[in-house]
Amino acid sequence: MKYLIFNEQDGVGTLTFNNPAALNALNTDMLQEMREFLTDPAQQASLRALILTGEGKAFIAGADIKEMSAMTPSQAKTFSMLGNSVMNLIQHYPVPVIAAVNGFALGGGLEVALSADFMYASAKAKFGLPEVTLGLIPGFGGTKRLTQRVGTAMTRELVYTGKMITADEALRIGLANQVAVPEELMAAVTATAQAIAQVSPHAVREAKELLNQCPDENAWAVATMEYNKFGLIFSHPQSKEGIAAFIEKRKADWPAE
Ligand code: CAA
Repeated sequence: MKYLIFNEQDGVGTLTFNNPAALNALNTDMLQEMREFLTDPAQQASLRALILTGEGKAFIAGADIKEMSAMTPSQAKTFSMLGNSVMNLIQHYPVPVIAAVNGFALGGGLEVALSADFMYASAKAKFGLPEVTLGLIPGFGGTKRLTQRVGTAMTRELVYTGKMITADEALRIGLANQVAVPEELMAAVTATAQAIAQVSPHAVREAKELLNQCPDENAWAVATMEYNKFGLIFSHPQSKEGIAAFIEKRKADWPAE
């Protein structure tokens, strides 16, 4: 891979955006590499959690403005469709995805972080949707996902002004779950990913699928999905093992899915 670096340890994968000279700006090739990585079934099967982070001083400073400068309207639409499809692949990745926002997460970069299940931020991180400063609008699903995360009024203020906010502000508005000093960001995210890797992988997968339905479906549809899944999960070997391990006062040894 040209723009991505991948490492894995004990079921926790780390995908690093690696084009620091351009602050990891998202170009078409990088989006395609992400799509290839995210749709690899062998990769999905070996992971329990996936961390996204950036090399250098940015997480991702947005879509590649230099590439976009030569786009026709129809190419821009195709680019936005590609970006949206990659964001959806992150959101629906079968294991939890955590964004470790090490620096600038702007425009398409914030949209990547928002597609993850949740994010932790370095105290140095900066967040924003500065598209209007370029005469553009957010194009990778950020208006919807930011509204779901921080509410409509805060989203409108951020989108209309294009301003950047700090990590502390991101924490305050519920955009980031935690702020860490820069040197401790990866340790904090890895500890949470490792905690996820300890519990039933099947249950986490089912819970993620249910959580992904919550914003778009009404309460009745979510409840229906929940009680169907809740019933079905009782037939799974991992629920039998988890309950038995509790009663026998031992650590669960999860059978394969
Ligand atoms: N696209 C292409 N190149 C970018 C880039 C981007 N989004 N962001 C930074 N770069 C490049 C710069 O052009 C520069 O390259 P050169 O050395 O060749 O000049 C290099 O990365 C380093 O950047 P700076 O010198 O600007 O670094 P800085 O520390 O002074 O400023 C910054 C950092 C404030 C993040 C600034 O780079 C910046 O404002 N970047 C653009 C942010 C932006 O507008 N993002 C939204 C893009 S539109 C979008 O994302 C649409 C969408 O929703 C899909």
